[in-house]
Amino acid sequence: MATVKDKLINPIAEGAEVPNNKITVVGVGQVGMASAISILAKGLCDELALVDVMEDKLKGEMMDLQHGSVFLHTHKIVADKDYAVTANSKIVVVTAGVRQQEGESRLNLVQRNVNVFKFIIPQIVKYSPDCIILVVSNPVDILTYVTWKLSGLPKHRVIGSGCNLDTEIYLPVLSKCDCGCMIRA
Ligand SMILES: NC(=O)c1ccc[n+]([C@@H]2O[C@H](COP(=O)([O-])OP(=O)(O)OC[C@H]3O[C@@H](n4cnc5c(N)ncnc54)[C@H](O)[C@@H]3O)[C@@H](O)[C@H]2O)c1
Repeated sequence: MATVKDKLINPIAEGAEVPNNKITVVGVGQVGMASAISILAKGLCDELALVDVMEDKLKGEMMDLQHGSVFLHTHKIVADKDYAVTANSKIVVVTAGVRQQEGESRLNLVQRNVNVFKFIIPQIVKYSPDCIILVVSNPVDILTYVTWKLSGLPKHRVIGSGCNLDTEIYLPVLSKCDCGCMIRA
């Protein structure tokens, strides 16, 4: 999908623009869009790419971000369901996943999300072989391990969001014990 800039300006020569600091977010649901907005608000990248299987939603979210991009450090915001749009990303944040259905076990959900990841991860690595993958989708620890295995990347380039959220929530009720460990206050 073309950016606003692409639509307004006709290139008269081929430009070989390779982004220095591109970030991709896969999955534009609640978590994906919260991540995208945080990344943009902090000016962390020079290009942001979004990927999802729901094309209408993807286009709408991209257009919303593009319309605000004049106020942002990042002016290039692109989206597509084709992973070519993610090429040369430094970081890829994976928030895609299927939801748990009524009565469905967590184990079954794992299998369905593993199937989703079997498609997503090789595509990410194909277009950005030097990237760091940050896994957010649940169950996050299992999917991070699956991502590491599917990607073939070294372990320091596959990171799960882990229990950061839980740590943040519980930190105020914890205090340091004499031996240095954290205990409930
Ligand atoms: N690790 C954490 O701390 C943490 C915190 C909150 C949520 N989560 C997890 O993050 C994930 C996303 O949550 P959400 O609330 O944004 O869900 P959501 O349903 O709003 O969004 C999921 C998105 O993934 C997309 N998707 C599904 N299959 C896809 C595929 N094959 N390729 C690309 N996109 C695909 C869907 O179209 C949807 O837009 C869930 O697994 C959730 O449990 C993790």
